[in-house]
Amino acid sequence: MQILDGKIVANAVKEKVIADAIEHKNGNGHTPHLAAILIGNNGASETYVTSKIKNCADVGFKSTLIRFDENATEQEITEAVIKLNEDEDVNGILVQLPLPKHINEASIINLINPSKDVDGFHPISVGKLVQGLETFVPATPLGIMLMLEHYQIETSGKHAVVIGRSNIVGRPMSILLSQNTQYGNCTVTLCHSRTKDLEKICAGADIIVAALGIPGFLTADMVKPGAVVIDVGITRVADSSKKSGFALKGDVDFENVAPKCSFITPVPGGVGLMTIAALLKNTLAAASTKK
Ligand code: GUN
Repeated sequence: MQILDGKIVANAVKEKVIADAIEHKNGNGHTPHLAAILIGNNGASETYVTSKIKNCADVGFKSTLIRFDENATEQEITEAVIKLNEDEDVNGILVQLPLPKHINEASIINLINPSKDVDGFHPISVGKLVQGLETFVPATPLGIMLMLEHYQIETSGKHAVVIGRSNIVGRPMSILLSQNTQYGNCTVTLCHSRTKDLEKICAGADIIVAALGIPGFLTADMVKPGAVVIDVGITRVADSSKKSGFALKGDVDFENVAPKCSFITPVPGGVGLMTIAALLKNTLAAASTKK
């Protein structure tokens, strides 16, 4: 069994981003700039966005964080997105999800200029992804693809099972794994909460991507010997032994599943780090294609 080490791969991606950002700046004097909008007090969102901003500084990007409290109106968020669309210095815009219930997520995402859509959530980005055209690919699935590439995981003709059908991970992941590319050449089954015989489907899989957000969901009996297991879960579970008061738990029962796998990602230290590296890569791409 080999660990797919998010730290190693994310650092390799970030080193390349740093070098390319320097070249970009030397070429036109412009520093890549990511703007993030964070609404409310969701603890996990707060952690993710703080990390995204810190990582921008690590690779020499500019960043702007715009915060709104939980009661912000859709009009206020709309105006903030429009202003960032118009700001020529800003290359990438992300609105951290989930949004408070009273704000229409689709309407806000639709407002982002597709040329600044570094999350790849805008319908134009999604449409291009489905058609195999060049576009911004959502950061978590892109990070997983970069990991498969780094470890040269064979995907041709393999059966991949993706558990979870979110727009952020499951759906784009299923598309990327089924495209006719070197690291995405699988037969894909997309499973979700209504899937019958999920255990049986998983047990036949060569590659499993668990992205449903239920800690420890994927157990050893659901995994074929030699399978590749990618754990996207990152749920906060109360843990009084930790200073923060919580531990991060993946969707995979790592202790019992790992010995059966050929490759597996840990939590933390796996996919989470790749998500941020992929976002930086997208932001650099947005800066490089700026007209
Ligand atoms: N919430 C969970 N993952 C993501 C992500 O990749 N981007 C944004 N904007 N929100 C998220």
